[in-house]
This record gives sequence, structure tokens and C-alpha cells, in this order.
Amino acid sequence: MNQIAMKQIADYLEHGYLVLEGFVEEAQCLAVRGRAEAIVEEFDFGGDISVFSTTEQSHAQDEYFLTSAYAVRCFLENGVDIGKLGEGEVPAVNKIGHALHDLDPVFERFSYTPELIGLLEELGYEKPAFIQSMYIFKSPGLGGEVVPHCDHSFLWTEPQSVCALWFAVDDATCENGCLWVQPGGHRQPPKTRFRLEGAGTVTDVLDESPYDRDAFVPVEVPRGTLVVMHGQMPHYSEHNYSPLPRHAYTLHAIDTACEYLSDNWLQRGDTLRLIA
Ligand code: FE2
Repeated sequence: MNQIAMKQIADYLEHGYLVLEGFVEEAQCLAVRGRAEAIVEEFDFGGDISVFSTTEQSHAQDEYFLTSAYAVRCFLENGVDIGKLGEGEVPAVNKIGHALHDLDPVFERFSYTPELIGLLEELGYEKPAFIQSMYIFKSPGLGGEVVPHCDHSFLWTEPQSVCALWFAVDDATCENGCLWVQPGGHRQPPKTRFRLEGAGTVTDVLDESPYDRDAFVPVEVPRGTLVVMHGQMPHYSEHNYSPLPRHAYTLHAIDTACEYLSDNWLQRGDTLRLIA
């Protein structure tokens, strides 16, 4: 069964992104939404207080991030001081990462569907794998901005093969921090590369010119929409100043027929699961 028409593939190649409304059912969205909230409820924030310190960008913080490649782990909003929380208070979580799709059965069911696998085939993936997943909360009043970037910078393959599969778990609007993309911007090379160096990470600046914010357009979409983004597509989202949540789930697919660089921050080794 075709997931998308030839015209949509042409649009994707031309503009670098594709909006597929109604790709998933509301019930599927509510299932992952409920599961994400339960993961936060059950998460032990007590053991890693130093990890979340805003004053120390410490080795412990790097370690917590780097070892989340094959884990289900909560990351807090910037500025949250876990030491100041009251008894039983759940801190503001920015996201859960980075192997929900392989380690949590609810997310696994949402991720490995015939529809999504078919879509990747139609986009030309030879040996696809989901390298990472994230559940992003973008909570009312708290959800921070994500500055312009492209995902290739973080999950580098030669040649570039990463694409983002971004699911609107809630309606996403300009008010609650929807995605903004730069149509056609996927033809520019990445401006940065984030990679491992020693026990930590560095960002190489490849092009110092700033992104042209005027060239971006908002992607306002209802719950259940899938936004597919080319790995070189510049995108960002703003702080959620609205009273409405903007939950989203993203999967990043790569083609394992391409070379996945050994100094990418995220290394799955033998745990990486081929889709087909
Ligand atoms: Fe991104």
C-alpha cells in the first residue's frame, strides 16, 4: 500500500519536508501521551541531582546524556533546580530520550508500524533504522525554545541520510511552539557538527553565518500529523508561552547502507535494530 503519492515525494525532495495530516489516529497519540506522562511519574529524579545542576555543565551531565543512547531517560527544562523542588513535586521535563522506540512497548508499537516502514521505503531508504527517539513536552509556559539547527549536525552519515519523523501528539500552533522550517533550506550544508571528543562533546562551526529567520515558515498542524523533515532542513521552535501543551514525538531514521560516523554522540553499536 502506498503511504504517499509520487507528487508528495517530489514535494519532499523539492522543499525538504512533508506534512501528512492524519497519519496516526488520535488513540495512538493518546497512548504515547499517557505513557510519556507515566514514565515521568515513575522516574527517579533523586539519584542524579548533580546531573541536573544548571551551574555545572559537568562531566556527570555529559555522561548522563551520552549514556542515554540506549535508555529511557528524562531531561529537564533549562534552569530547573531539582534541589529546590518540594516533597513529591515532579520537575518540569523537557524531553524523554533516546531509545523509547526500542525499550518501551507502547512507543515500540507506535514506531514500528507498516505505514511508517512503507513510507521510508517510498522515500528510498535501503536499510533503514530508527537511530533515536524523543518525546518532547513543550509544557505550557515552561517549554523552552529550540534554536535553529539541522539534524544532520547531530546524526551524521556519509552520505547524509537522516530524516526526522515528527508526530504532533497535540495540536501545534504558533502560540504553543510549533515547528518552523526553511522551505528549500535542506540544500544548504550544515552550519555545525556536534560530535564526541574525548569523554565529552564539541560543536564544530562549519559556517558562521546566521540562519535567516525571515526565510522560515510555521508548520501549524493538528494532532495526528506526521511532519517528515530532511536531515539538512533547518528548523526551530519557540518557547511555549501559551496555556496549552504541545507534546510531540520524534523518531530519527538513518539508512544503515550509509556510513554512520564513529564520533557521532549517539552510538548504538550492536543494539541498533534494522527495520526490514
Ligand atoms: Fe531537530
